Amino acid sequence: MRGYFKISWLGLLLVFSASCARIDNSVITAHRGASGTAPENTIIAIKKAIELGAGFSEIDVQETSDGEIILLHDKTLERTGGVVWNIWETPYDSLKKIEVGSWFAPEYAGEPVPRLADVMDAVKGKIKLNIELKINGHEKALVEKVVALIHEKNFQSECIITSFDLNSVKKVRQLDNNLKVGLIFSKYPENIDVFSLNVDLLSVKYTLVDEEFMRKAREHGKEIHVWTINEPEMMKQLLDLGATSIITNYPGKLRALL
Ligand code: G3P
Ligand code: CA
Repeated sequence: MRGYFKISWLGLLLVFSASCARIDNSVITAHRGASGTAPENTIIAIKKAIELGAGFSEIDVQETSDGEIILLHDKTLERTGGVVWNIWETPYDSLKKIEVGSWFAPEYAGEPVPRLADVMDAVKGKIKLNIELKINGHEKALVEKVVALIHEKNFQSECIITSFDLNSVKKVRQLDNNLKVGLIFSKYPENIDVFSLNVDLLSVKYTLVDEEFMRKAREHGKEIHVWTINEPEMMKQLLDLGATSIITNYPGKLRALL
């Protein structure tokens, strides 16, 4: 009997230590979903990211001609959908007929361009979203609609909103000061001290990140998200430097490293 209790206590201790050692998966951001293994910016790619252990999925959002918020990186559907349509001139009813999976691999033929609302419904509670506002110059109410969807779907604590466009980031802040926002950049914007901006995070190209950069970020209380890192050696270097999240097409590689 006493031996049994000893073993049970040992078991409990092992379970406790294992749960303490569990990694914080928010350091893994899948880029456009797990876009190294499934077609970018689709629900299947985000589900793949969940399977591979990512805590976040980055996605690109734009607006259709009739105001639906959808996932798409490029300005047109040429590369992923095979039609040369500008997204701002395409109504959602036409977009629905386009598939964006077969360019990646035949088994993904038929994957649709998802709406942000569909993505939120499909993955809520399973992965957080880094919603990148992709500005194409034809927006009518992209920022307002994204913020409204976040409220409608109660996604406030399950997303961050990022953009290369500082005005859009500022607009998010004005609409809801509690949402977590970040500026994306690949080189330092002119006449702006990025570290002093009223944003929670900086989402930067890996080439800008070194010890000095991380020191300034820490001093100003900014999270640093780094893109797009697909090689384990580089992932390791950035983890050692203290990156908050690493944006990768291959979340499984980063998970394995952690
Ligand atoms: O979110 C950062 C990263 O996705 C920016 O580059 O071109 O892949 O949207 P891009
Ligand atoms: Ca992006």
